[in-house]
Amino acid sequence: MGGTAVVLCLILQLTQEVKASVGNCIPRKTVKYQTVSVEMFVKEGLSNVSTLLVDEETDTLFVGGRDVISALDLNNVSREIAREHWFATQERQLECIRRGKDKIRCQNYILLLHKINDSNVYVCGTNAYHPLCDHMVIQRTKMHLQGRAEESRGKCPFEPTLKYASVFVDGAFYSATSNNFLGTEPIILRSMQNPVRTEFKTSWLNEPSFVGMEIVPESEFSPDGDDDKIYVFFTETAVEFEFYDKILVSRIARICKGDLGGKRLLQRRWTSFLKARLSCSIPELNFHFNIIQDVFFLRRGKWQDSIFYGIFSQQWGRLDISAVCAYSMASIQEAFSKGSYRGPVTVEHSHVRWMVFRGEVPVPRPGACIDNFARSMGYNTSSDLPDKVLQFARDHPLMDSSVNPIGDRPALLKRSSNYTRIVVDRVTGLDKQTYDVMFLGTDDGYLHKAFNCDGEMFIVEELQLFLSPEPVQFLQLSAKKGMLYVGSMSAVVQLQVSGCHRYKYCLDCILARDPYCAWSQASHACVLLSDQTENDVRKYLFTLGNNVHLKCVPLSNLARVVWKFNGSRIQDKDSKYLLYDGGIAIFNVTVAETGFYDCLSVEKSKAKEFFITVARYALYAHQNTEKANVNAATDDNNEAEAVGFQSSLSTYLLKDATKQKSVGSQKENLLLKLLSAGFALLFFFLFIWNFYKGHISLPWKIREASSKDTNADLENPELTTGRSGAVRESSAIQTNMSFLNE
Ligand SMILES: *[C@@H]1O[C@H](CO)[C@@H](O)[C@H](O)[C@H]1NC(C)=O
Ligand SMILES: *[C@@H]1O[C@H](CO)[C@@H](O)[C@H](O)[C@H]1NC(C)=O
Ligand SMILES: *[C@@H]1O[C@H](CO)[C@@H](O)[C@H](O)[C@H]1NC(C)=O
Ligand SMILES: *[C@@H]1O[C@H](CO)[C@@H](O)[C@H](O)[C@H]1NC(C)=O
Ligand SMILES: *[C@@H]1O[C@H](CO)[C@@H](O)[C@H](O)[C@H]1NC(C)=O
Ligand SMILES: *[C@@H]1O[C@H](CO)[C@@H](O)[C@H](O)[C@H]1NC(C)=O
Ligand SMILES: *[C@@H]1O[C@H](CO)[C@@H](O)[C@H](O)[C@H]1NC(C)=O
Repeated sequence: MGGTAVVLCLILQLTQEVKASVGNCIPRKTVKYQTVSVEMFVKEGLSNVSTLLVDEETDTLFVGGRDVISALDLNNVSREIAREHWFATQERQLECIRRGKDKIRCQNYILLLHKINDSNVYVCGTNAYHPLCDHMVIQRTKMHLQGRAEESRGKCPFEPTLKYASVFVDGAFYSATSNNFLGTEPIILRSMQNPVRTEFKTSWLNEPSFVGMEIVPESEFSPDGDDDKIYVFFTETAVEFEFYDKILVSRIARICKGDLGGKRLLQRRWTSFLKARLSCSIPELNFHFNIIQDVFFLRRGKWQDSIFYGIFSQQWGRLDISAVCAYSMASIQEAFSKGSYRGPVTVEHSHVRWMVFRGEVPVPRPGACIDNFARSMGYNTSSDLPDKVLQFARDHPLMDSSVNPIGDRPALLKRSSNYTRIVVDRVTGLDKQTYDVMFLGTDDGYLHKAFNCDGEMFIVEELQLFLSPEPVQFLQLSAKKGMLYVGSMSAVVQLQVSGCHRYKYCLDCILARDPYCAWSQASHACVLLSDQTENDVRKYLFTLGNNVHLKCVPLSNLARVVWKFNGSRIQDKDSKYLLYDGGIAIFNVTVAETGFYDCLSVEKSKAKEFFITVARYALYAHQNTEKANVNAATDDNNEAEAVGFQSSLSTYLLKDATKQKSVGSQKENLLLKLLSAGFALLFFFLFIWNFYKGHISLPWKIREASSKDTNADLENPELTTGRSGAVRESSAIQTNMSFLNE
């Protein structure tokens, strides 16, 4: 039949599409500038945007540019609140030009903005290759530089386009940049308090390109009395491989916050500087992504749960592939606190080879922070450490083992997009699972939104942020506001992390699998989950000892209902509950029954079960008994009705026997949806066919039909019942119509 052919064809097309998207990670949707621009706030006409600072407390987005700092409204970046200019003096500019630099580069590029408190921001600029830092005082809608700028070599780059990194921690400023005009002296420096820096040795830093720096509060609840650590990410020229060409390598380095340097050796130098190779590769294909482009620290309440996400590309080979790798704190700690060391050893005259140190490592462990063990040996600060430990640390800055990504492979691989920036937001979907949603900026002005769905990376959409294909240079997330701030060289745009309203249809909303969104049957729209849960979770107050009825109707006649309490399935046997056709009864409710009740509609197809959350209730116990009585009455009348809503994530597949994670689940899921769509189509075709054959008549054809039917009945008695039923119904319609006509 025609109908089935159409349905089959649709199924085939769509399954093929899904397969392709899994293999190549093709963004599910491409949203062009014209569409996305209506929902963005845009600030254009900025000059050489060089840094962004999101300040959620004062609702300000500070933008550092060429000779200027702008304060934009964090809720509408189109609105500029204040602006402060900072120019390099005429003499400085002339001096800079005289030393052979471009006129356009001999200006003051504001590269660093760090918040000190609500009324004070630390600002650094290149100042025509003579870096300066100053404090900026902010008073409501006004801001001005204090004019007490100080020379800031080692804090801020000389060169406006050089990569650098910095953090502000407890009144101390940590920077990773270059220390001189020529850019030949890389440095990791602490200033403003207890100044300490790296040695100028290629074994420590070898032509690095810094991409990120983060503080991890590892002293929190540390049983060993460990210290907080500062991690630095960069790409440098490898020293440990022998090759005719320069080999670049990604690194993670760390220093201890409490490091004060040594006493005789390593005076005012880090005694805790250690670095390790940051690996991101597909071993079986021999693909090594050796250049780190950007890093994002997904900070969690417990630092052990935090994750570093990095974007990588290759030096040779597949330059068109970008990779994202994720690193756990455990793997980072493993490499630094347990592994062997490497250091340069002179073999045959002046030839140097980097060898793994196999001898006896001095105690306390070189490069380790001062902890309870060191203190028990009488070493209270780094300056108490014995010379042999410091000497070893100085000569063996490299760990032998590399830091490997979670799952030992990239979390995401993307062909034909060059990622430049990453931020990650952790969200909880309707299914109570957490998802790390990655936002990735590309070098041609797109933003990709990706997350791991059932073990497969899935790019929900790509948004075109700028009209011209400019690279995304800056990307900042305000999880609190649910906003992203994206900067190119000349513009800043603000957009929501979610974009649920872009999905106009239920199926589209669900297929997007966007953890931010859910389909609300009540408002018939794809809506933001955080807005929705409040509305769609039916709050239900009850009185202790009463019985509670929660309503829920399965989505189809073929479906049955499963109830879950706080995520675990309620068994039919449980005498506490009675599962009946229209819902569930909970007898003699106690405090133990307070929590979340989910009603899932379960449908079987080819021995696989599909679950869709239809309703969700939050049961609260009454505290006040008097008030409870009043409410108890309303409870009885007010049996909450199941307002169906479907999450983009709540539809999932439960494999019958095998417990293996189904990669095909999305496909199966889709198939079921299509099958039901197919049934609807089929039904429609049958209906039309029936019309065509005259088995169902239109009201104005009734008389004709009934007379024909009498004949048909005689010819084919089997069909009589059904058809006469149809006739009877039609007659009823006719009656009504003739009644209207009268
Ligand atoms: C600043 O922007 C201008 C164009 O607006 C560009 O020509 C120049 O190269 C930029 N400066 C730097 C240092 O990138
Ligand atoms: C955002 O700010 C711009 C510039 O001040 C203004 O024109 C626009 O109306 C604002 N938009 C909203 C939604 O407030
Ligand atoms: C903010 O920090 C600056 C510089 O450290 C200090 O002078 C000022 O008093 C601080 N202001 C407040 C309100 O803490
Ligand atoms: C370290 O601190 C302990 C206790 O505060 C003290 O007894 C000891 O002398 C200190 N050691 C050094 C080397 O300062
Ligand atoms: C990505 O980078 C490579 C190498 O630099 C370049 O050849 C390619 O054109 C870039 N692709 C896009 C889409 O910008
Ligand atoms: C309800 O539960 C309470 C506490 O478990 C118990 O004391 C009471 O007898 C129960 N009532 C009924 C009607 O089951
Ligand atoms: C169910 O979850 C709610 C909310 O998280 C919690 O308050 C309640 O104690 C939980 N109930 C049980 C029995 O675990």
